[in-house]
Amino acid sequence: MAVDFRKHPMFPPGFNAPTRFEADVHDCEVWGEIPADLQGHFYRVQCDFLYRPPNNEWPTGFNGDGHVSLFRFQNGSVDFRSRYVKTDRLKTEMTARKRLWGVYRNHYTDDPSVANIDRSAANTHIYWHAGHMLVYKEDSLPYEIDPYTLETIRGRFDYEGQYTATTMSAHPKIDPVSGDLICYGYQARGDLTDDVAVYVFGADGRKKREWWFKVPYVGIMHDIAITQKYILVPLVARTTSDARLKSGEPMWEWNGALETMVAVIPRDGEAKDIRWFRGPARNTLHFLNATDRGNRITMELPVSDGETTPSHIKRWSFDLNSRSDLFAEEVVSLANSPLARMDDRFLSLDYQYCFVGNRNTERPYNTQTGGNMAGRVTNEYQRVNVKNGQASTFFVGDTHGLQECMFAPRSRDGAEGDGYLLGIAGNYSDMTSELHIVDAMKMEEGAVAVVKLPFRLRSGTHTNWFPTWELPLRGDRIV
Ligand SMILES: [Fe+2]
Repeated sequence: MAVDFRKHPMFPPGFNAPTRFEADVHDCEVWGEIPADLQGHFYRVQCDFLYRPPNNEWPTGFNGDGHVSLFRFQNGSVDFRSRYVKTDRLKTEMTARKRLWGVYRNHYTDDPSVANIDRSAANTHIYWHAGHMLVYKEDSLPYEIDPYTLETIRGRFDYEGQYTATTMSAHPKIDPVSGDLICYGYQARGDLTDDVAVYVFGADGRKKREWWFKVPYVGIMHDIAITQKYILVPLVARTTSDARLKSGEPMWEWNGALETMVAVIPRDGEAKDIRWFRGPARNTLHFLNATDRGNRITMELPVSDGETTPSHIKRWSFDLNSRSDLFAEEVVSLANSPLARMDDRFLSLDYQYCFVGNRNTERPYNTQTGGNMAGRVTNEYQRVNVKNGQASTFFVGDTHGLQECMFAPRSRDGAEGDGYLLGIAGNYSDMTSELHIVDAMKMEEGAVAVVKLPFRLRSGTHTNWFPTWELPLRGDRIV
């Protein structure tokens, strides 16, 4: 059975076609100078597709095979490696030489032969903690890979039996003060169950806390936020049902009639101490940061009012003194990408900088060499001060589109924002991908260096940076 992606609605010819290869590039071509203080490992994950999904697949592409890229920075040079995560699912399909899993998170559409095989595509996010490099997919448990070779070690990672929920979200949080990792699963006792489980694991990988609770409705719970005293678990109005799954559609459906709900968990409390706040239906997946001051919690996040309206950076406020269970909302910035990152050394703490993409249609686009992407690409990164909304901007140029950026601090103890933005850009003029390195305090000056890959990468999901003081370099080369 031939592999053929033609006429699939998700894969028009061009930049986002499946890549379907793994690569090693020794000593990448670099335009400019890699800063000497940028040493460590930059990872990014993309959803790739080795086999053709059903035509009614969720157009987000979030059901593709997990594919991890590593840019290794050492002494001004960069080596590159990419590998598929060799999930049970991918290996089974490779053996059968065809797609066996159906549409996104819908077991009714899977081939019956795979009913008892782990369905994780390991395609969303990657974190290094407690000596494990884990690649996450929120409908399953994570995969562990080797942080240097990217070879797959094992699936269904459960902290040696300490984690009993059946799912783990792709967005754990690492507390920069304690070094603890807070992770969670929803639909935590199987598909469509209304159970949520939240866990705390220490830097030694031992479980410290565990909470189980029920949700008001089964909706998407893609990310969480933490403060030093609380964990915020939002529930967003993208929902599902057994009837929807039986109809053969992907799991999620936007339902603007539902309220947004946020569970506030006291980190030193019990499940009975959880307080739910509510607000109007909001479309969001990712939460930037949260902080607590006394009995008031604020959380900044990219969020839109509906399925087709643009995202902006907003602040939700939760007053624990109030008898009202409503959260308040205000606009922080009109930057319009749904993906925002920060200096993670300040996660859960008082902070000022958000790094967010922006599609600025006022910027020039060269349709002659860049194709027909004008008005459709994220062409800026902004450093937004969340305290006053002021922004500094990096423009990537008139033939490029940007993906999620990551902040890499210049040193372990430097000031917030003192470091570099790392972001993958698609160069539509020559159909290759580039890693742009921007001084986060000199955004307007442009990239200090650009790592040129001799091929394209698909749009990625998430990125992470682990400097040498968290993950030491091993040897002097990758290949
Ligand atoms: Fe995500």
